[in-house]
Amino acid sequence: KDISIIGVPMDLGQSRRGVDMGPSAMRYAGMIERLESLGYNIDDCGDIEIGRPERDHNGPKLKNLKAVAEANEELAKAIDKEINKERFPLVLGGDHSIAIGTLAGVTKPYKNLGVIWYDAHGDLNTAETSPSGNIHGMPLAVSIGIGDSALTNIAGFGPKVKPENIVIIGARSLDKGERELIKEKGIKVYTMHEIDRLGMTQVMNEAIAYLNERTDGVHLSLDLDGLDPTDAPGVGTPVNGGISFRESHLAMEMLAEAGILTSAEFVEVNPILDDKNKTATVAVDLAGSLFGEKLL
Ligand code: ARG
Ligand code: MN
Ligand code: MN
Ligand code: MN
Repeated sequence: KDISIIGVPMDLGQSRRGVDMGPSAMRYAGMIERLESLGYNIDDCGDIEIGRPERDHNGPKLKNLKAVAEANEELAKAIDKEINKERFPLVLGGDHSIAIGTLAGVTKPYKNLGVIWYDAHGDLNTAETSPSGNIHGMPLAVSIGIGDSALTNIAGFGPKVKPENIVIIGARSLDKGERELIKEKGIKVYTMHEIDRLGMTQVMNEAIAYLNERTDGVHLSLDLDGLDPTDAPGVGTPVNGGISFRESHLAMEMLAEAGILTSAEFVEVNPILDDKNKTATVAVDLAGSLFGEKLL
């Protein structure tokens, strides 16, 4: 199997510097070598160019909208190119606003793309409901067609994903508007409560069965802040009480066994806020499990 790696050094979807170095941090932690050691043919396509506008933090509703939209258009094109070569796109972020472009790129070949949103947050805000104006808190809403048309219409079509094809795993910080949207759209969510209660094995078994019965491809969008900050401290919006490294490792192994993934991304790695590149290293470990690594 062939994997194409696309880096997206994006930090304009939120307000903390350093997450633009996420792709380098994951490469430095050995992402390419790890996947090569599993027998994959890896093509590192390098990084998407991100505009370096003067950060527009005064229009508080959709910060850096233009630059974020432009980079996501580029990302969608780059992914499309790799998919046409029948390669598996693996996107390295960058803040979570890049999922807008990733989903624009990966949904085209599918009628019913499923999405696993592994995250402490719902990322279901709009300009109206966002407490921060940060676009990294909005990509999932955008993908179901809710938000500014400069974002919802990336790659010239939308919505990208049906709400019933989404499974959120790890949620523990949701804003009011996000909770309302989840209820209104019937989005499936495993909060930390369900993970505690059912265990990760059952959560993943259910999530995989749910997606298997209604989707024709599955994208994993893994925000490192889905993990507990003790395991993944290098993130811009940490929330205590998260998924452990072990549970995450198991979740990745179960996805590998299920063989349902058609694309993936690892986002929100910020080496400036990290402890000796621990979070990028966790991302590489999880990618290893996701792509089939086994001890024996
Ligand atoms: N809900 C908050 C907001 O909208 C935090 C979002 C964090 N998102 C993320 N991808 N880390 O600003
Ligand atoms: Mn998050
Ligand atoms: Mn997120
Ligand atoms: Mn294991």
